Amino acid sequence: MVEDNAVAVEPDATGSAGPGASRLRRMQEWWYREFRRIIGAWVFVVVLLSLGALSVAGIDFTDYIFSHNTFCGNVCHVMESTVYQELQQSKHWNTPTGVRATCADCHVDGRLTLAMIDHFLGTGELFVNLTNDFSKPGSFEKFRPAAADRERFKFMENDSARCRSCHVMEAIKPERVRGQNQHKEAVEKGITCILCHYNLVHKAVDPSEAFLNTIEAVLSTGEETGEGEEAPTPGAQGEEGQEIL
Ligand code: HEC
Ligand code: HEC
Ligand code: HEC
Repeated sequence: MVEDNAVAVEPDATGSAGPGASRLRRMQEWWYREFRRIIGAWVFVVVLLSLGALSVAGIDFTDYIFSHNTFCGNVCHVMESTVYQELQQSKHWNTPTGVRATCADCHVDGRLTLAMIDHFLGTGELFVNLTNDFSKPGSFEKFRPAAADRERFKFMENDSARCRSCHVMEAIKPERVRGQNQHKEAVEKGITCILCHYNLVHKAVDPSEAFLNTIEAVLSTGEETGEGEEAPTPGAQGEEGQEIL
């Protein structure tokens, strides 16, 4: 055995095979290095993917917390005694089918990242909340008109995207003739939901001058289709709508 070994190695070690062996060793080292690099790269990729997954989960969780009704409704006490209660008395809460619209359904744009940006911007509201004494009943009312106006313009700017995440315009079949006519007009002229359906679920707020002007402008830019002269304001109609039938 020993002799065999010696015989096998000795000629190699002394002969021209010497450089061959060291090349082999170099190749081996090179391969180990490469191997480590490849493994390293994979570990890197896996770690990166895990981090990505974790942060998505994190964002989703934060999104859930911030979007949840109890956050919107309770953490900001103001909301609880005002807009939240109003929603609970609305047709978006007490639906025959039990489908309920949450705060986020109407107020938070996009998913995940976009929603996070939205929440972040929303913390401006939180700041207003913290720097003002809302403990007195009715103290929110001071801020309501401006807030309502801001929300309306947000709906206006994104073409009532939040409404459309649930409602498909073409699929809505208004019961009354007035609704049918105005929806026909809305589709033809591309009038967005909020321009007609403001004061939807919260306490009625008179539209601002700017909002009224916007409605005017949008209605007048559409092609003139006969009898649509009066401003369509089902938002302000309520019981008045009943008379139509
Ligand atoms: C079905 C859609 C919808 C839902 C659900 C909804 N909102 Fe609104 N919200 C609106 C619209 C539309 C406005 C714009 C003002 C208006 O015309 O009523 C608004 C306005 C507001 C305003 C501005 C003040 C005001 O009274 O107009 C606040 C604050 C607000 N919403 C918070 C909430 C909170 C908190 C919830 C959940 C408890 C909620 N909203 C649920 C549609 C909705
Ligand atoms: C989460 C889904 C959802 C969102 C978002 C939503 N709605 Fe609704 N909406 C409903 C449901 C459910 C009803 C109850 C009637 C029904 O089942 O079809 C309803 C009813 C209505 C009605 C008839 C009852 C009423 O209050 O007069 C109008 C008008 C309406 N929605 C407009 C809007 C507008 C405008 C927006 C955007 C500001 C909006 N909706 C956002 C789900 C939604
Ligand atoms: C040009 C004005 C106008 C626009 C724009 C408009 N609507 Fe309406 N909508 C009406 C009127 C008017 C009614 C009937 C209200 C009534 O009779 O009580 C109505 C009725 C409805 C109803 C209730 C159907 C019923 O009779 O039960 C829903 C839901 C609705 N609209 C959703 C929307 C959504 C969502 C959008 C935007 C994609 C939209 N509307 C855009 C004027 C408009």
